[in-house]
Amino acid sequence: MDKFIIEGKTPLKGTIAVSGSKNAALPLMAASLLAEGPVKLTNIPILDDIHTFNKVIKETGCKVEFNHADRSILFDASGVTQYIAPYELVRKMRASFYMLGALVGRYGYAKVSLPGGCAWGPRPVNLHLEALKAIGVKIKMDNGYVIAEAPPSGIPGGEFTFNPRSVGATVNVILAAVLAKGKTVLHNVAQEPDVVQLCQALAQMGADIQGIGKSKLTINGVNSLKGQTLRNAPDRIETGTYMLAGIMNPDSHVTITNTDPDDLGHFLEQFEQTGALMNISGTTITVKAPEIIQPVSITTDVYPGFPTDLQAQWATVMTLADGKSVITDTIYTDRFSYVPELGRLGAQLDVKLNSVHVNGNSQLTSASIMSTDLRASVSLVMAAMNAEGTSEVLRVYHLDRGYEFLETKLNAIGAKITRAKE
Ligand code: EPZ
Repeated sequence: MDKFIIEGKTPLKGTIAVSGSKNAALPLMAASLLAEGPVKLTNIPILDDIHTFNKVIKETGCKVEFNHADRSILFDASGVTQYIAPYELVRKMRASFYMLGALVGRYGYAKVSLPGGCAWGPRPVNLHLEALKAIGVKIKMDNGYVIAEAPPSGIPGGEFTFNPRSVGATVNVILAAVLAKGKTVLHNVAQEPDVVQLCQALAQMGADIQGIGKSKLTINGVNSLKGQTLRNAPDRIETGTYMLAGIMNPDSHVTITNTDPDDLGHFLEQFEQTGALMNISGTTITVKAPEIIQPVSITTDVYPGFPTDLQAQWATVMTLADGKSVITDTIYTDRFSYVPELGRLGAQLDVKLNSVHVNGNSQLTSASIMSTDLRASVSLVMAAMNAEGTSEVLRVYHLDRGYEFLETKLNAIGAKITRAKE
C-alpha cells in the first residue's frame, strides 16, 4: 500500500487543471451498454474506479478500450452475452450497481451483486429496487445478488416518487426506462449535474426524456438507442477540493482550469463568505486566499445545495478559520471518519450527531494519519500540507479511486508530497 510523505506549510501558487468527473463518467459508462452501435466517451479520468467499472462491463462480453493518452473509452456492446455483475467487482465500487438498470433495460435480465457498505456505514439500495419494481421490473434476491427480470412483453413503464432524492437510484431507473415499452414518470428525481448529463447523453442517443434538470422526468420508451461520441463533464468535486486547498495558506493563489463553475451550485456563494477572493471566467476559477479565513457554518443538501462530497474538505479548512463553525451533513449522517485523524494533527473539533463542531484557530502540527475513504483522504492531505513539519498520510489507495494524479498536480503548484511504500 502507498502512503504520502507531506512537508507542511507550503503555499499553493499556479495553475491546476481539473480532470473529467468520476461520478458523471460512471453513469455514461453504464449507458453505453444500451446503444446498438459503438459509444465513445471522452474526458474520462484515469482512476481506479474507472478501471474497476471497465472490468465489470467487460464481464458481460462488451468490448471496452480505454485509451489513456486521449482519456477516451470505446464501448461496443454488440458482443454482450452475460447479464451479470459479480460480487468480487461490485464490492470494490458501489456504482457497479448501475449495471442493474442498464442490463435489465437493454436485455430484460440482470443478475447484479448487492453492493457492500462503505467506510462510513450502510449504503441502502431500497430506492433503486422500489423504483425498478414501479416500472414493472420483477425483482428477487438470490444469495446476495439481485435478479431483475422484465416481463416477456418488455418493461411496461410506470410512475415513482423518490423519497429521499437519490443520485444512484435515479440513474438506475432511467437506464431501465429509456428502452421500455411504455411511459415512465419520475417525481423528485436527483438533479445533480451527473444525472442531467446522463439524460442529455441518452437524448443524444435517441431517448425520449422530457423535463431534464427538473424535479419531474417523463420518459417515453423507444425501440433502440444509437451509438454516439459523448463528452464527460469536468469533476465538480475535484474543482471544489482545489478551491478549498487553495485558501488554507494566506500566500496561496491558484487558477483552476478545465472546469464548469455552474456545477458547484450554492457552494460558490458559501466559499466567498470565507473571505477568499474568487474570480470566474468561463471554465476557469481563480482563487486568492484571504489573510484571515472567516468561520462559515454549512449544511449539506442535494444539488444545488452544498455537496456532501465537499463536507470533509470544508471542515478541514474551518480548522484554520478565525472562530467556531458547525458543519452538518444531512445526506450521510455519519460521514466523519476524518475527524479523529484531523485531531491527531492538533485540530480542535468534535462530532455531535450529524454535525462536526470546529473551534478554528488550530496550529496544525505533523503526524501520521490514516485515510478511510475518498473524500476524507483528500482532506487529510490538505491538512498535512498546512501542518508544521513532515506528516504521513497512509492508505492513499482511497485517493487513487477518485483524484487523478493528485500529488503530481499539487506538487506542480508548490506542494511537497512524496509517494512511498507503507
Ligand atoms: C452518489 O452516491 C455519489 N456517488 C456519492 O459520491 C455522493 O456522495 C452521493 O451521490 C450524494 O451526492 C456516485 O455518484 C458514484 P444517493 P449515491 O443515492 O448515488 C440514501 C464520492 O465520494 N439512499 O444520492 O449512492 C443514502 O443512504 C461518492 O464520489 C437510500 O436511503 O448516493 C443517502 O443518505 C461518495 N436508499 C441519500 O439517499 C437508496 O436506495 C443519498 O444517497 C439510495 C440512497
